[in-house]
This record gives sequence, structure tokens and C-alpha cells, in this order.
Amino acid sequence: MASSPRTAMFFLALSLALLGDDLRRCSASQVYVVYMGKAPQGDRAPRRRRHAGLHRQMLTAVHDGSSEKAQASHVYTYSAGFQGFAAKLNEKQAIRLAEMPGVVSVFPNTKRRLRTTHSWDFMGLSTSAEGQVPGLSTENQENVIVGFIDTGIWPESPSFSDHGMPPVPKRWRGQCQGGDANSPSNFTCNRKVIGGRYYLSGYQTEEGGAIKFVSPRDSSGHGSHTASIAAGRFVRDMSYGGGLGTGGGRGGAPMARIAAYKACWETGCYDVDILAAFDDAIRDGVDIISVSLGPDYPQGDYLSDAISIGSFHATSNGILVVSSAGNAGRQGSATNLAPWMLTVAAGTTDRSFSSYVSLANGTSVMGESLSTYRMETPVRTIAASEVNAGYFTPYQSSLCLDSSLNRTKAKGKILICRRNQGSSESRLSTSMVVKEAGAAGMILIDEMEDHVANRFAVPGVTVGKAMGDKIVSYVKSTRRACTLILPAKTVLGLRDAPRVAAFSSRGPSSLTPEILKPDVAAPGLNILAAWSPAKNGMRFNVLSGTSMACPHVTGIAALVKSVYPSWSPSGIKSAIMTTATVLDTKRKTIARDPNGGAATPFDFGSGFMDPVKALSPGIIFDTHPEDYKSFLCAIISRDDHSVHLITGDNSSCTHRASSSATALNYPSITVPYLKQSYSVTRTMTNVGNPRSTYHAVVSAPPGTSVRVTPEVINFKSYGEKRMFAVSLHVDVPPRGYVFGSLSWHGNGSDARVTMPLVVKLQTSGKA
Ligand SMILES: *[C@@H]1O[C@H](CO)[C@@H](O)[C@H](O)[C@H]1NC(C)=O
Ligand SMILES: *[C@@H]1O[C@H](CO)[C@@H](O)[C@H](O)[C@H]1NC(C)=O
Ligand SMILES: *[C@@H]1O[C@H](CO)[C@@H](O)[C@H](O)[C@H]1NC(C)=O
Ligand SMILES: *[C@@H]1O[C@H](CO)[C@@H](O)[C@H](O)[C@H]1NC(C)=O
Ligand SMILES: *[C@@H]1O[C@H](CO)[C@@H](O)[C@H](O)[C@H]1NC(C)=O
Repeated sequence: MASSPRTAMFFLALSLALLGDDLRRCSASQVYVVYMGKAPQGDRAPRRRRHAGLHRQMLTAVHDGSSEKAQASHVYTYSAGFQGFAAKLNEKQAIRLAEMPGVVSVFPNTKRRLRTTHSWDFMGLSTSAEGQVPGLSTENQENVIVGFIDTGIWPESPSFSDHGMPPVPKRWRGQCQGGDANSPSNFTCNRKVIGGRYYLSGYQTEEGGAIKFVSPRDSSGHGSHTASIAAGRFVRDMSYGGGLGTGGGRGGAPMARIAAYKACWETGCYDVDILAAFDDAIRDGVDIISVSLGPDYPQGDYLSDAISIGSFHATSNGILVVSSAGNAGRQGSATNLAPWMLTVAAGTTDRSFSSYVSLANGTSVMGESLSTYRMETPVRTIAASEVNAGYFTPYQSSLCLDSSLNRTKAKGKILICRRNQGSSESRLSTSMVVKEAGAAGMILIDEMEDHVANRFAVPGVTVGKAMGDKIVSYVKSTRRACTLILPAKTVLGLRDAPRVAAFSSRGPSSLTPEILKPDVAAPGLNILAAWSPAKNGMRFNVLSGTSMACPHVTGIAALVKSVYPSWSPSGIKSAIMTTATVLDTKRKTIARDPNGGAATPFDFGSGFMDPVKALSPGIIFDTHPEDYKSFLCAIISRDDHSVHLITGDNSSCTHRASSSATALNYPSITVPYLKQSYSVTRTMTNVGNPRSTYHAVVSAPPGTSVRVTPEVINFKSYGEKRMFAVSLHVDVPPRGYVFGSLSWHGNGSDARVTMPLVVKLQTSGKA
């Protein structure tokens, strides 16, 4: 034997290191998407066979003629909404494929995240209350099919009961991938959950590892949670752990149909699986797709982002895609930026899970928790920094990091731990560290103050900075400080609501500043909804994140679709955006956590969704796939070959009128480089009373003046389109971004649409 395997491996590693990065990159295989554009019209089955044959030929060519190797490297064929394939390739092979005729782009398989703030944390409460849409005829909801690209679904949950639902719509072409009927993976559809598919190839190729349910069955809970927020049936006795948030709960469109596309597994979701899910959803005939996931920020451009490409083709097929903005909190961190998506920020409701800490000097301090433990007597309370173990510094133990606590000193006490911007541990796992140290409870001072209620492994509570300071000052004021943590309670109306959640990702768009993102806000803090019993045995759970905000909008989009089946995706989106509100329940401008300052369109887009008003907007701003192509021409360098990278057809930019990204008929107006004057046009479509009059009401961004022409528009028929121009002029050069709005007030009852005006003074020489 020449050498042991171990030596061989060492040798290989050594030689690669010597030969440098280039070779290493070339020899390492990874999964790539080979995107070949829009699928031509025609019969589907022969087309799929033809494509599969072509893809095989291409793969064989880059594998030096070996059809076995080609077959082994193949992961997916896409052929419905768009065409292309996914395969395991090295970089050289990827480059060769990119140069082949018919290939529009090749990009590596990237992992996407689910948008729960902290996927382990089980957090505080409240879904859209029952009766939020009074007087609505729900009859047609049962013809609306919503696809969820997520972690699958738990079809036996009472939220997905098909009791009293009519047969599945005839046009449905989806499938129910049952899995093994006798194994724990078994999966059956019903008249509520009418489809279930799963996409494992990309995940397995990249990560391998054990898979709990090889079926659309949800092992994580996230997919069941999001689907039930959008379209869950009414459940009379929903609660967290039997005690919190007790009451009836339901989704936004409880009679709509659900199709689960499981592309997300234990650690995330891969591009190639997400694209396969989009491809099938388009083929199956869903009306709306909900994607509570996305890339880390900053997002890659539209050409190398699976969700951008998949949603472009969905929109071109008349399917609205609703997505989450992200949980990064910072300015400019919003993702899912494509203008053909409806992108959702997260806010609060008026319900919270509160827990009191009573200090032995007689004062009580309030925080958030899902903890229902009962502590009988006050307990010695000390800062975790004072119980640092071994080599850990007091700072490290103040964060209650794993192993940083001295068991002897921590035993039986309540520890005060801190959580700051850099903390990546979930609150639940921090509480497990505290429990392992033998402590009796924990008070977590959260410097980010995101008001997320969560589960603790010991009696626990999260408090903000001000409350935390009070507790610390009490503990310092006495030699034997004692506190008692009371079980959490459901509390209504504690703080002004809604507010924008601290974790919700914010604009401006890092990719196309001419398009305001996020588009709209919806509840995403402490939301109670269905869960997968496979995860800690619970039937319902409380989660926070833009993941939870997204399906609130999905549900209302399904309702709008049920009332106006012929509207385009952009029409539904426009109705939801233009009727949103920027005022809280006390009629003050909505605030933003953590510091309570006034939120801006970069926080909530057009504002908080108003489900009732969204059902009768009166006016919509309609956009068609052709308009998105013009938009792409405006942002991509103006040559013939770029635009089809995403549209995948023979679109060219040469015959299109020269335009700017601001020209897209978007329901908001953003001018990111305003020099002196700039004019933008929009076209509105009458979907209210045939005869109606609208007049413009402007609130100009500070330092600018705004003229709208014409100021009054008379409609004479339903569906009539009218154009208007908005001219912006700088009076006093504003510093940074400034915000205003343009409303159109109709003469009929309360018809009113509003769009934010967002302006930034030009600072560079850009035209
Ligand atoms: C399918 O699996 C679920 C989850 O393990 C289980 O509750 C159910 O009883 C199973 N059904 C059948 C028919 O085996
Ligand atoms: C923990 O604290 C006790 C008592 O102060 C001390 O004797 C022990 O060495 C400490 N252990 C560690 C691991 O720091
Ligand atoms: C208890 O201590 C806190 C912190 O020092 C203080 O703010 C509070 O007023 C004290 N309460 C009473 C009743 O003395
Ligand atoms: C694009 O143009 C080429 C050459 O003119 C033609 O062969 C091809 O069928 C066209 N593709 C589509 C999708 O229209
Ligand atoms: C609104 O104005 C139109 C004229 O443009 C008129 O025909 C219509 O009756 C008015 N509607 C209401 C509710 O006043």
C-alpha cells in the first residue's frame, strides 16, 4: 500500500494550498443554477422532456462526454414558469455552461434564511383579531389558492381543518407528495391543504445529514405558523401553553386554500430548491405565493437572486408574490427589493405578554416573557458578571455565555444577564446556560429593546434598558437584593400601537433607491399561530419576525383576490399599499422601536396595512410585465443582452423609450437624486364608482414644493385610466432624505388613496 488514506488526504490538502486559491476554487464542486429564461408557450409534458434532453446534452458536454457523470451531477430541471436546471459543477464547468447558447445566467446555490427573529425563541403574541374584515363575503375565498414556500405544514392542525369546505377547485393542477403512509413522514392533503410538495435535492447536496420528515410535513413549525397566519381556519381555543393569549384565532383568509412547497429544512433554504418550488407553484395554478424568507443583506442583484427570478416569472404569470423585508433592523438592510414583489415590514399590535419583576423594596418593574413558572418567594438576585467562572471575564459572564458562569456562586439565585447588538445566542439558549449553572431564574436586560416575548428554561423575563437600570440600581443599593419574577400575563393596550418593531429591516433599497422598500407593514411581533407538534409538542406557538408580518399581508391579498379575481398582482399590491395608514390608534404618527421616534416610509413603506380599506381602494396603480422590463432596461446598462438575463426571452432595450426607474407606475414615489426640479408621472385606474371625482392633496417633503397636474381628475367609467404628473422642486436644499405624501380624495364616501413622497437632495454629479 503506497499510503494510508489519511496521508493521501493530507497530501491533497497540502498540494492545493501550494497551488493556490484558483485551483482550489476550480476543483471544488458546488451546486449552480443554470438559468435559461422564460419557458416558451405550448404543451407542457413534451416540453419538459425536450428540455430535460437538452439539459442532459449540455451537462454531458461539460463532463467531457460522460453521460454517467452528467446524470450524477444533475439536481433539478425547471420547465414550467421558466427553464433551466440545477447541477453540481466546478467553477470551470459553470463558466463553460454560462457561455453556451440559450443560457442567460449561472449562479451558485446560496442559502436563504427563514425570517423568525431567533428561530429557537418562542415569543409573545397576537394575530389579526377576529372580525377584522366585517361584512366581507368570504364566498369566493375558497377559489383562491395560496402557495407557501417554507418548511412545509402540519396538515392535522385544527388551523388546517377542511371541515365544511367544498371540493378542491377544478383548475388545480398541484400534487400531494404523500411520503410513506406508514412512516412518521406520511402526509395527506385535504380540502384545506390541497397541495404539498418538497424539494430536498439542493439541501441534501450541500449539507446531507439526517432529515426528519422526507415529505411536506413540517418538523420546524415555521411553515405551519406562517400558513395559519395567512389562511388558518378559526380555532376556538388557541393559546400558548394553555395560559397565554387564550381565545379564538384565525388567519386573514380562513377559507382560502393552501398549497405547501417545502423548500426549507433544518438549517435554511437553498436557491435551487426555492426555484424548483416557484417553478411548480406557477405550473400548479396558485394565485398568491408567500415567501417568509430571504437573503442576508445586502441583497445580490436581481440577476443572481433566486427569489427575484422566481417571483418575476410568478408575476408574469399573474401570481402576486408577498415577501418579508428581513430582521436586520438597520437602515438600508431591507431585502426582497424587486419592484414586482410586495415586501413587508414588521410591527406590533396592542397585545403583549408582560411579566413583572417585584423588587423586595416594594417597586415593580415590567418586562416581556412567555414564562409561566410560579416562583413562591423572592430570591437573592445578582449581576451575572459577579459569578464569572474560571477564565471568563466579568463582561463575558454578564452576557451569560455558555460555560461562563460559576455554578457554586450562581446556585439558587436570580441572575441579571445582558443582551446587546452583538449577541447571537437565542434567549432560550441563554436561559439554558443559566439553568445549567443551577440558578433559580434570570432577568435579561435587552439593550436592543425589541419587546420580543420568549420562552425561558427557568423563570425569566426580558426588560428594556430603562427598566434594567432600575433593577441594577436597586441591586447595588442593598447588600441582600431579592426579587420575584411573576408569571407572564396577556395584556392589552399597554403601549401605543402599532409601532414598527426594532428588528424590522429598513430602507432605502440598497439596489434600486428609486423604489421604496419595504412596501407596507403588518403585525410581526409576538404572533400566536399554529405550530408543528414535532417540535416540543406544542400545537400553537408565539413567534416574532418579518416572517410573521408577511403572511398577514398574504391573507389580505387573498381576500382582495377573492373580491376582485381579475385584478393583476400589481393591482392587489396597490390596493394594500395605498390604503395603509401612517397613524396609530391614538391618531399619532406611528413610532419606531426601540427609541420611539416617528417612523418614516423607510420603516413602514406606505404604512400599516388596513385590511378593510384595502378591499375598496377606489383607485389602483397597475403595472404589467412589460413595465418591469422597461424598469430593468432603465437600471441595467442599456445594451441588448442584459435585460433578458432576467426576463429570459428576447426582450431588448433598444426599442424602449429612454426612461428612468422612477417611471415605473409604482404606488409610491421616490426621487433619490433631486437637483433642482424633477417630474414623475403615474397612471391611475378607476376601480370604484364609475362616475367619480378625485382631487389631489399634497403634503410636500420639507424644503420642497410639489405641484400635481391635473389637480382634479374626473372618471366617467369603471376601468378608465388617467395620468398625472408630480413636479418636485427644491426650495431649501434638504439634508438627507425628506418625506411627504400625495393623496387623492374621491367624492364618494371614503375613497382615498395615498402614496409616500420620498426625496433626497442630489449630492453627487449623477443626473
Ligand atoms: C402520520 O404521522 C403523524 C406524525 O408523526 C402521526 O401523528 C399520524 O398518526 C400518522 N398517520 C398515519 C396514518 O400513520
Ligand atoms: C467557583 O467559585 C468557587 C467559590 O468562590 C471557587 O472555589 C471555585 O474555584 C470557582 N470555580 C470556577 C470554575 O471558577
Ligand atoms: C426601589 O429601588 C429602585 C432602584 O433603586 C428605586 O427606583 C425605587 O424607588 C425603590 N423603591 C422604593 C419603594 O424605595
Ligand atoms: C429569440 O430569437 C431567436 C432568434 O431570432 C429565436 O430563434 C428564438 O426562438 C427566440 N426566442 C424566443 C423565446 O422568442
Ligand atoms: C362624484 O362626482 C361625479 C362627477 O364627477 C358625480 O357624477 C357623482 O354623483 C359624485 N358622487 C358622489 C357620491 O357624490
